[in-house]
Amino acid sequence: MIKKVAVLGAGVMGSEIAQVSAAGGLDVVLLDSDPAALARGIAHAAEIGARRVKRGRMTQEEAEAIVARIRTASDDADLADRDLGIEAVPEIMAVKHDVIARLDAALPAEALIASNTSGLSISEMAARTARPHRVLGLHFFNPASVMKLVEVIQGERTSEATMAAGEEFARSLGKAPVRVRECPGFLVNRILVRAMAEAYRRAAETGADRAAADAAVVDAGPAPMGPFALGDLIGLDTMSRVRSDLEGAYGERFEDGGEIETQVSAGRLGRKSGGGFFERQAPEAAPDDAGRDVAERYYLGALNEAYRCIEERIAGPDDVDLAMRAGCGWETGPCAWSEARGLSALVESMDALSGTAPRLAPPAMLVERAGRRGERPG
Ligand SMILES: NC(=O)c1ccc[n+]([C@@H]2O[C@H](COP(=O)([O-])OP(=O)(O)OC[C@H]3O[C@@H](n4cnc5c(N)ncnc54)[C@H](O)[C@@H]3O)[C@@H](O)[C@H]2O)c1
Repeated sequence: MIKKVAVLGAGVMGSEIAQVSAAGGLDVVLLDSDPAALARGIAHAAEIGARRVKRGRMTQEEAEAIVARIRTASDDADLADRDLGIEAVPEIMAVKHDVIARLDAALPAEALIASNTSGLSISEMAARTARPHRVLGLHFFNPASVMKLVEVIQGERTSEATMAAGEEFARSLGKAPVRVRECPGFLVNRILVRAMAEAYRRAAETGADRAAADAAVVDAGPAPMGPFALGDLIGLDTMSRVRSDLEGAYGERFEDGGEIETQVSAGRLGRKSGGGFFERQAPEAAPDDAGRDVAERYYLGALNEAYRCIEERIAGPDDVDLAMRAGCGWETGPCAWSEARGLSALVESMDALSGTAPRLAPPAMLVERAGRRGERPG
């Protein structure tokens, strides 16, 4: 049972993870190499409480008790009684190596070590420790105080007991844990970025209006927001890094027709730079035919990648669905959505596209599922 947690790195994610852990009743030690970041992290945790008090969702006393459960520290001696250490330092492997080695040296031998990495290898980090079976990924989503999903990542040597403890920890914070076998991009980013890349690529080919394409995506399926508005929200510099890493790992199916780079090289990074695919706010638009065609690629891309993940045993169908609902706000997950839409029609659409776009050929498991349901002969 995890009761005492250390969070290393008090930035955007670390301060939120500390807040969520303290709100779950755990005793938290927060460390950062920068004292100013520590102070900002505590102030941020207090702000979350203050907002909730204002909205009538908790009392002033409860908010104060949560912040009081977070203690800042600068000395690794403060790690000696922790059950779990979570690192949330910058996404640079050399920095992760240092911090993981520190945790390994300072935590009790039976404690777990978790990384909040968005995509670096848990197995590589674990290999630097004397307890690789006790190292896992706990991938919280931003903002962690609000987003329900935690991807619990299993590295090559992560033990079953560690995975179970990681899931139990996430549940104790009121989160929805989803078990993911390690792969580049993990689960949600892999499916989401594939869908977005397919949509960008198609729009680049046809010159479809972006606002109409976004409207068509929202109209046609479970996503709450279209890929262009979402890219602007995430930040196109971040999108660019994540997409090119995924292309490096999986190949050309993550190509986006150069759409992201065109924006980034013009200094258009999305909302944070005042504009990206759209000027500030996306214009109002209704779905049109070209937009619907982009939306079709978006959902077929998501489905194609989701079934690849299932085939590779990265996660099971129910967990894929839960992850897309809890991590991306989809109304239904891709598997449930595909069943509702009709598997055989989707397989036919993928078959038809696979002549010019072999990457979109229907995954064997989707074909088999359609066959089992009697929707498609053989
Ligand atoms: N920002 C997101 O949307 C998001 C979402 C999910 C996961 N993540 C992942 O979370 C991790 C942290 O990202 P972030 O956005 O919170 O970064 P951030 O830059 O906001 O915070 C990182 C913090 O780590 C501190 N730090 C740096 N080196 C350190 C060291 N050696 N020891 C202790 N503290 C150190 C920094 O001072 C900083 O306060 C990354 O791995 C990132 O990929 C980020």
